[in-house]
Amino acid sequence: MRILVINGPNLNLLGQREPGVYGAGTYDDLVAGVSRAAAGAADVEFFQSNSEGALIDAIHGAAGRFDGIIINPGAYTHYSYAIRDALAAVPVPAVEVHISNVHARESFRRVSVTAPACAGQIAGLGFGGYIAALRHFTGDLAVSGQIRLGEAPSVSGGTRLLALIGDPVENSLSPRTHTAFAGALGLPYIYLAFRITPGRLPAFVGAARTLNIAGFNVTMPHKQAIIPLLDRLETDAGAVNAVVNRGGELIGHNTDGKGFMLSLARLGVNAAGKRAVILGAGGAAKAVSRALRKSGARVAILCRRPGSADMSGADILSWEQTAEAAGSADMLVNATPLGSTGHAGFDSLGFVDALPAGALVYDLVSYPAETALMAAARRRGLTVVGGEALLVSQAALSFELFTGVAPDLGGA
Ligand code: DQA
Repeated sequence: MRILVINGPNLNLLGQREPGVYGAGTYDDLVAGVSRAAAGAADVEFFQSNSEGALIDAIHGAAGRFDGIIINPGAYTHYSYAIRDALAAVPVPAVEVHISNVHARESFRRVSVTAPACAGQIAGLGFGGYIAALRHFTGDLAVSGQIRLGEAPSVSGGTRLLALIGDPVENSLSPRTHTAFAGALGLPYIYLAFRITPGRLPAFVGAARTLNIAGFNVTMPHKQAIIPLLDRLETDAGAVNAVVNRGGELIGHNTDGKGFMLSLARLGVNAAGKRAVILGAGGAAKAVSRALRKSGARVAILCRRPGSADMSGADILSWEQTAEAAGSADMLVNATPLGSTGHAGFDSLGFVDALPAGALVYDLVSYPAETALMAAARRRGLTVVGGEALLVSQAALSFELFTGVAPDLGGA
C-alpha cells in the first residue's frame, strides 16, 4: 500500500510556529513519526509546499501511484476551491488532517472547503491524527467521518484494546501508565490487565487474534512460554514482554532490556566498564543481563537454581555467593520476585552490607514501591532505584511499538 502525505503552507515551520497551538515537534519529527508508524504496513511518501499550484500538482500526480492521500492543506483548507476540486478530480481517497482542533479556534477555521472531497477529517489529535489517518488506510483502525477532540467520546467503535497478561496482574501500574500516554497524545487506545494462568495462555493468544488486540505486554510467568505461540520475533533476548499485532501477525519484542538502559540513562548512569550483579535467572534477568553486557558492563548472575541460567557471556554464580559478589559490585539488580507483594522476601539482606559505598541498588519489583531491599540500601546511603523507573521506560518503548507514537517522558 502506498500513501502520499501532503502538508500545505507554513507546516514546514512546525516546532517554531505557534508551539502552543501546534506543539514542539518539527516537520522532520512528523515525517519520522509517521514513517515509523507505517513501517511494514505502508510505503509513505511526503510532500510539503507553501504554494497552492504545487499542492494541486502533487494531488494530480497521486493518481495511479498512490492508494491514499493524507492531506493537511493548512490555511488553504478554509478557502481553496482549487485544492478541493483537485481532490475530487483524482480517484485516490483522501483523509484531511489538522494538527490543532480547528473547531475550537477562530470561526474561519471551522469551515473546510476541502473536507467534503475527502473520506473524512481528523482534527485536534496532534501528529497522532496523521497516524489515525494512516490506520484508516492500512485497515488497523476504523476512522470514518469527522473526529473532533472535545466532542469525540473517549471510547468509540474505533478504540483499540491494549493489554497486559500475567499472573498476578492486579497491582500492575501498566494500565495507568499506558492510559496516561494515550490520553496525553489523544490516541484512541484503552489498556486493560488480564490475569491469565499458564494453562490459559494459548487461549488468550487465540482471543488476542480474534479480538484484534493492537498489542499486549507480557509479564511473569509467560515471558518465555509465549514465544512458540507467536508468529515472529523481533528480539533475540529469549524472552518477550511486548507483542505487537501488525495486520494479524503477532510479533514478539523485548523492551525490558532497552527500557532498563533507558531508565539508567535518564538517571545519568553509564554502565560501561561497571561490575553488575543480577539476582535471578528469569526473563527479566536475561533481558537486563544482555542489555548491560551490550553496554560494556561486566555481569554476574546469581541464581537460586543452578543450571536454570542460560546467559552466555555472564558469570554464573550460586545464590550462596551473593555477599561475595556484592563486595565488588557497582550495581546490584534484583530481577527475582522476592520482596514483591504476595511473594516471600529475601531470607537475608546481609549482602546489602557487603556492597561498596557508591553502589547502585535497582529493584525491578514495582509493587510495593519501596521494598525491604530498597529500604536496606537506603539505610546504607546507597543510590536506590525502584521498579517504577523500569516500568515507565519499558512502557514508553512498548507504547511506541503498539501505536507508532513515542510518549514524551519529560521529567516523569
Ligand atoms: C492547520 C489548521 C489551519 O487552520 C492552519 O491554517 C494551519 C494548520 C492544522 O494542522 O491545525 O496551517 O491545518
